Amino acid sequence: MSNKRVLLVLGGGIAAYKCLELIRRLKEHGIAVRCVPTAAARALVSPLALAAVSGEKVYDSLFSLTDEAEMGHIRLSREADLVVVAPATADLLAKMANGLADDLASTLLLATDKPVLVAPAMNPRMWAHPATRRNLERLAADGIAILGPAVGDTACGEVGAGRMVEPHELLAAILARLEPSSRPLEGVRALVTSGPTHEPIDPVRFIANRSSGRQGHAIAEALARAGATVTLVSGPVAIPDPPGVRTVKVETAREMAAACEAALPVDVAVCAAAVADWRPAEVPAAKIKKETGAAPPVLRLVENPDILAGLARHPTQRPRLVVGFAAETGALEAEARTKRAKKDCDWILANDVSRGAVFGADRNRILFLSGEGPAEPWPELSKEEVAARLVERIAAALGRGPS
Ligand code: C5P
Repeated sequence: MSNKRVLLVLGGGIAAYKCLELIRRLKEHGIAVRCVPTAAARALVSPLALAAVSGEKVYDSLFSLTDEAEMGHIRLSREADLVVVAPATADLLAKMANGLADDLASTLLLATDKPVLVAPAMNPRMWAHPATRRNLERLAADGIAILGPAVGDTACGEVGAGRMVEPHELLAAILARLEPSSRPLEGVRALVTSGPTHEPIDPVRFIANRSSGRQGHAIAEALARAGATVTLVSGPVAIPDPPGVRTVKVETAREMAAACEAALPVDVAVCAAAVADWRPAEVPAAKIKKETGAAPPVLRLVENPDILAGLARHPTQRPRLVVGFAAETGALEAEARTKRAKKDCDWILANDVSRGAVFGADRNRILFLSGEGPAEPWPELSKEEVAARLVERIAAALGRGPS
């Protein structure tokens, strides 16, 4: 890990003190750390302490003549291999989501071309506020990695999601991102479905669902980062194509099924798309008119192909590993077991959508079912973390990583 550099932006949360420990641990791994505390962070952890632990000059002013002469803020943001924001306060996240740049920290974050990892820390109500939710969705769509927050007591006395993750967790996430040899899926071919499908009713109307595509896209990206050659077959979504992935865009379930068939052979298929179960049987060429006094049209639906089951039962090219999702509102484990058997897939990642906040949300709580042993409840994780865990499991199942 020598020659690796982390630029650590510290926001004004009490968890800033934990960063001293983080810096020390990073240095033990031979990683150089340059600190940029915001004004609020400087009130909580002294620049002197940061300089002493990091062994580097601490940068804190956008308009420092000496710093600009020695190192412009653009260079400062680009010389790092990874930018880490910890603690990422609600204010700092809002600035990042909106592209504000009114101090050195926010300017660096706007100017950087390097991967950015944020570790949020704030009061649980601030974390739950719709404004923060919106900002996080935007940041995730911008490709920012979000780690935590953890659930527990917060400094303000309230209990809930809002604690910054512990330094060892942050260290592990940083090491995983800086480790150049973390490509266990090199040579593996993967197919991922993502997003909703749109089933036309007539030329202007369609049946759709609330899938954002975030989970499927995160899985495609994580597989690609792990070295796999990835085809992502995506229904209509409002998020960017993941980097390093061949994305095939489709609208209907039948187009999705055809694109998946065309992507074979693959070693692993992950079906994360929310495929419409039915489509209108007839689609008129002209828009259905609303005639005064006439009864509303009746839609007759026919069943769409089941892509997951089709891949799992493929007569000649079944992928070695076929993974499906199950969004359920009832008895999660029982439904997931039934679904796994019904579709002949190897694994099911089930989530409870009865409380509403899965589609489009940034976090997910998964029950993992592999057919061997009991179902495994995963803690509440970001969709990126779910993707990373799944990729680890895939690597292990294909004999490519630690089991
Ligand atoms: O049957 P249900 O829609 O609940 O199953 C969900 C799983 O099946 C998901 O993995 C989804 O991607 C996949 N599926 C599919 N094709 C369909 C319906 C569901 O691939 N037509």
